[in-house]
Parts: sequence; structure tokens; C-alpha cells
Amino acid sequence: MKIVHVVGARPNFVKVAPVMAALAEKKLGDQILLHTGQHYDPTMSEVFFRQLDIPEPDINLDVGSNSHAQQTAQIMMRFEKVVFTHSPDLVLVYGDVNSTVAAALVCAKLLVPVGHVEAGLRSFDRSMPEEINRLLTDQISSLLFTPSKDGNENLINENIAKEKIHFVGNVMIDTLIRLLPRTKDIECFPGIKNERYGVVTLHRPSNVDEVNYLGRIIDVLDDISKELPLIFPIHPRTRKQLTKIGIQPTGNRLKLLDPLGYLDFLSLQYNATVLITDSGGIQEEATYLGIPCLTLRENTERSVTVDVGTNIIIGKDLERLVQEVKKILGGNAKRGKIPDLWDGKAAMRIADILCSL
Ligand code: UD1
Repeated sequence: MKIVHVVGARPNFVKVAPVMAALAEKKLGDQILLHTGQHYDPTMSEVFFRQLDIPEPDINLDVGSNSHAQQTAQIMMRFEKVVFTHSPDLVLVYGDVNSTVAAALVCAKLLVPVGHVEAGLRSFDRSMPEEINRLLTDQISSLLFTPSKDGNENLINENIAKEKIHFVGNVMIDTLIRLLPRTKDIECFPGIKNERYGVVTLHRPSNVDEVNYLGRIIDVLDDISKELPLIFPIHPRTRKQLTKIGIQPTGNRLKLLDPLGYLDFLSLQYNATVLITDSGGIQEEATYLGIPCLTLRENTERSVTVDVGTNIIIGKDLERLVQEVKKILGGNAKRGKIPDLWDGKAAMRIADILCSL
């Protein structure tokens, strides 16, 4: 069996690592790793390959950043040639980024089977590009690997045949479980582990593209940082916006950093008092680690993190954000449990399913 894995953006790398390792362990034919180049800064890409023990990509499409249409189209045009050259038996795509849907569309037209890892998640908010990517990718995939049971329900409600759907658990958590022991000796900030602190990440267009709103968020974070130091590794998209409007945080307790590698960030999360984020993956990691997570989005596709885990949806209610941080500091944080099959074995379940085909 010849399998091509398509990855392009930071969260994809965390997901592909355990799947490649599991398929290698099962000796399941030839694996080809293709990087679309959607993320290209070393801090967004290279460092993940190194720290997660992912082999160098066999192919890099070098598409870089562009409008959605141009980025998706470029990936499709370049990936189609790869499919012609390599004739894979299966293409595995990950998550919900533009690289995911672009590769899936190419395969659907060429009748190459696609497996979608992290299928079935829905925010029911079509104003988010990721929701469009999820809906389309799931409709045209032959194998759908879901991280939580709500994923199965969503797919069945969209009339996807039951036989295609496999509840395998969360591959991102596979990586976390494997690498958490390696973070023990990391000290991102001298002395910070002995102090309470929060971690912030923001990169969604709904939070960062409108600069006045981004400015309001920064003001509120500045206020919170008077009670609780905040560490904020900044995504390039957000950095651009902050530079554009010349926003400087006023206090030195709101610490703005460049994006961190996987191990440094995991270590920061593990020791944090609260995570304030709009990322999907961090909502899941917080739930697994049992750390309170306040999500600056109106909804989440990862409903299990709210229903079972530590996540609270804040939306744009920044006053509520302040109140929830106060609650946490007062010892009244939301407690959660670990969702089913978030046990470090999701990738091995995928490998077992592929072996049985
Ligand atoms: C993408 C995904 C998003 C995911 C996120 C994780 C889509 C539609 N969005 O968002 O779902 O949560 O990745 O990080 O696929 N940039 C750089 N260097 C890089 C990458 C990006 O400077 O290595 C800048 C560019 O200005 C670019 C902007 O960030 O225009 C946005 O990058 P893009 O890949 O389009 O989307 P993300 O916001 O990273």
C-alpha cells in the first residue's frame, strides 16, 4: 500500500507524527510525507518536525501564504501532479486547514481514496473557513476517523455511510502523552513555574483581523496581567496586526513572545493556571491536562471539551473573561474529565483499521 500524508499547517504536524509512527510500526507499506508549505516560518514548521520526530517531508509544495482561493488552488494544482506521479492507494489528510480540503478535492476528482483524520467536528458556524473545510472534506472522504463520539453523530446527520466512520480517539493527545515527559526539565521563563501565570494564544480572523477589537482584547489582557502574569506567544498573523496598529502592552506582566516550539509550549501549558485561547488544539490539550480553558470564540467544533472537559466559551464578552479569570484565581475553576479514547492509542487504532482493509 502506498500512502501519502498531506500536512501544511502547525496543528497538522502534531497529528501526523503518531500516525506515521503507528503505520511504520505495523509496516503498512510505503509512506510519503508531503508538506504543502502553508506554514513556512521555521517557528511554525521546522521546529515541529524536529521535536516531534517527524521525518523530513519527501515533497514540499512551497505554496506559502495567499488568499484562500489562491492558496487552495495552488495546493490543488501542485498536488495533482504529485498524485499523477506517485499514484497513491490512499491519501491521509488532517484537521481542517486549507491544505486538508485542497488535497481531498484533488483526490476525489482522481478517484483516489482519502482518509480524514479528525473527521466529524462541527462548529455549525459557516463563517469560519475551517467549518467549510471540514464539511467538504468529510463529504468526499472514504474513511472518516473521529476524535470524539459527537463527530460520529454529526457525520451520520449529514448522511455519511456508517461503514466509513471510525471512532478512534484523538491523535493530538497521542503526541501530548508521548512527549509530556520530555518537558519536565524545560524552563521557558526562569522561575515562572513557581509562580501562577496564564497563557494566551490568539490567531483567528474573528479576533485579530479587526484591529480595534484586537486592541480591546490587549487592553483587557493588560488588566488581567495585573493579577496574573500572562505569557502570549504570538502567531505571525497576529504579530502583523499588532505591528500595523503599533500596539504595545503597557505592563511587563503581559509578555509577548515569538511562536514557541511544541515542547516549550506544552511545558508552559502544563504548568499554567489558565489558558486563554481561540485555538482548537489548545482547547483539547487543556481538557486532557485538566487546566481551565477560556475560549475567545462564539462556538467550538470541539464540543466535548465543553461538555466533558475544562473549556468555557467566552465569545466576545471580555467582561466575562475577566470574571472567569477571577473565579479561577479564587479556586473555583471548572473541573473536567478526559474524553473517551483520549488515551494515546488513537493512531494505533487508525493503523489497525488500515491493516484490516
Ligand atoms: C491556519 C488555519 C487555521 C489553523 C492555523 C494554525 C486555514 C484556513 N487556517 O490559520 O485553521 O488554526 O493555521 O496556526 O487553513 N504566516 C506567516 N508565516 C507562516 C504562516 C503564516 O507569516 O509560516 C502569516 C501570513 O501572513 C499569512 C497569515 O499568517 O497570511 C495566515 O496564515 P494562513 O496559513 O493563511 O492561516 P493561519 O491564520 O495560520
